[in-house]
Amino acid sequence: MNRAHTAVGLLALALIVGGAGPAIAAGNAADTPTFTKDVLPILQRSCQHCHRPGTAAPMALLTYEQVRPWARAIKDRVTTRQMPPWHLDRSIGVYRDDPSLSDDEIVAIASWVDAGAPRGNPEDAPPPLDLAGLDEWVYGEPDLIVAMKEGFDIPAEGPDMFPSEIVDSELTEDRYMKWVQVLTTANCCLHHEHVYAFTQAEDPEDDDDVDTVHVTEYVMGNNGDYFPDDTGKLLKAGSRFRFAPHYHPWGEEVHAISRVGIKFYPRGVVPALEVTSHRIRTGIGDDWVLNREKVEDLLLRQGVDLPLDSETPLGPFLTEGSVNSLAQLSIPPYTVARSERFFRLERPAIIINFQPHMHFRGSRMLLEAIHADGRRQVLTDVPRYEQIWQLTYTYKEPHLFPAGTILHSVAWHDNTAANKHNPDPSAWIGWGSRTMDDMGNAWTDIAFMTEEQYQVRLKEKLDRLANPTNDP
Ligand code: HEC
Repeated sequence: MNRAHTAVGLLALALIVGGAGPAIAAGNAADTPTFTKDVLPILQRSCQHCHRPGTAAPMALLTYEQVRPWARAIKDRVTTRQMPPWHLDRSIGVYRDDPSLSDDEIVAIASWVDAGAPRGNPEDAPPPLDLAGLDEWVYGEPDLIVAMKEGFDIPAEGPDMFPSEIVDSELTEDRYMKWVQVLTTANCCLHHEHVYAFTQAEDPEDDDDVDTVHVTEYVMGNNGDYFPDDTGKLLKAGSRFRFAPHYHPWGEEVHAISRVGIKFYPRGVVPALEVTSHRIRTGIGDDWVLNREKVEDLLLRQGVDLPLDSETPLGPFLTEGSVNSLAQLSIPPYTVARSERFFRLERPAIIINFQPHMHFRGSRMLLEAIHADGRRQVLTDVPRYEQIWQLTYTYKEPHLFPAGTILHSVAWHDNTAANKHNPDPSAWIGWGSRTMDDMGNAWTDIAFMTEEQYQVRLKEKLDRLANPTNDP
């Protein structure tokens, strides 16, 4: 990256955010950004796939007439980097489908708004985007479609809903997925949706169960999972799917039916690497016994009256067999709690993506690799996490690591009044799946490999680094 260039961009940005007036006031009219020439291309790349009719975004941003009334709000949202949603530290890592704006693009939008949001010459406008319909498969025709049978009625108003439905996939042989996408009739109101597959008679429910495959997750603005070449996720014969949507009523009555479309590798083809989804639970530990002292200490400091002479003073706080517990994640009142987790790669692997998942108190999460020599490498830092967005950050080039590398996830939960999403800073929050509980999941797709496969990939990587090409 060109550092000098970025520094200039930041300076200009600071001037605009600081309200110092149009940054390009010194230029002549020809320099004033216009909608057709400067702004529309940015909206096409970074906004329109969400801001179009039929989605949960509050307005369409396809034409000048649609955009003009929102000019001020657009300037606010882009200069503060709230839009497009992309909450990571942009100086770390390179990602696929990165919609975020460069500093220069932000300056262009802000100057355009300050200049009165002129339309400009219609001939400068790029042709309208040919966006795939909201009910279309974006990567082609799937081989298998599994749809909800019953679905759910979502009212126009009401509390959020977290129902689930189990459907037989009718898959009769093991197959590897090349891509997978979810379509829904409830684009207005589907906040996100996990799809799991299991082959046991009973749904294990506990997602940590090795026999449960996380098939995919739908979130707005995400086109599904397309696995890198020679990698795929295994779906077992006889799999049943559990759809686990989160609906957010949004002014429209709708009957929600989700469909999962899957493209397989050709029959009999086994991709070189199998992708598995992992949830690194960032908390003070799954085994509360190990963390008992720490938890008791936290509770006592907060003045909780614990029966210390009893064998399990934490008893009242622990529901047996449940994950809803302070022993797994403890967020005391009026504090920013930091919790972490270590996950050792037992075999060499590539790390494909990272998706932080927390609730209202979640404010930041990072994923780093700790190498055998102790060196730490931050893979992704998401310092502006917001619970309403469930973004997956996919590495443009998956990270390749040898066996023994430790993945380290760190979560920050801001339980102070400074967190605008915090409903109650006086509450002591523990782990749980209810919205008012919290979580700290570092989801990541990993493909493990043999030592031989690792050596081949390592050599390829070193060769690439030694002979950089102009990879676009
Ligand atoms: C992933 C989907 C997505 C993308 C990409 C996206 N937005 Fe949004 N935008 C939303 C949703 C959903 C909301 C409403 C929730 C909220 O306010 O955060 C929203 C809200 C907004 C608002 C506030 C509207 C209001 O009610 O005040 C503005 C302005 C906005 N977006 C502009 C943009 C611009 C400009 C871009 C591109 C640079 C963009 N958005 C990219 C989904 C998206």
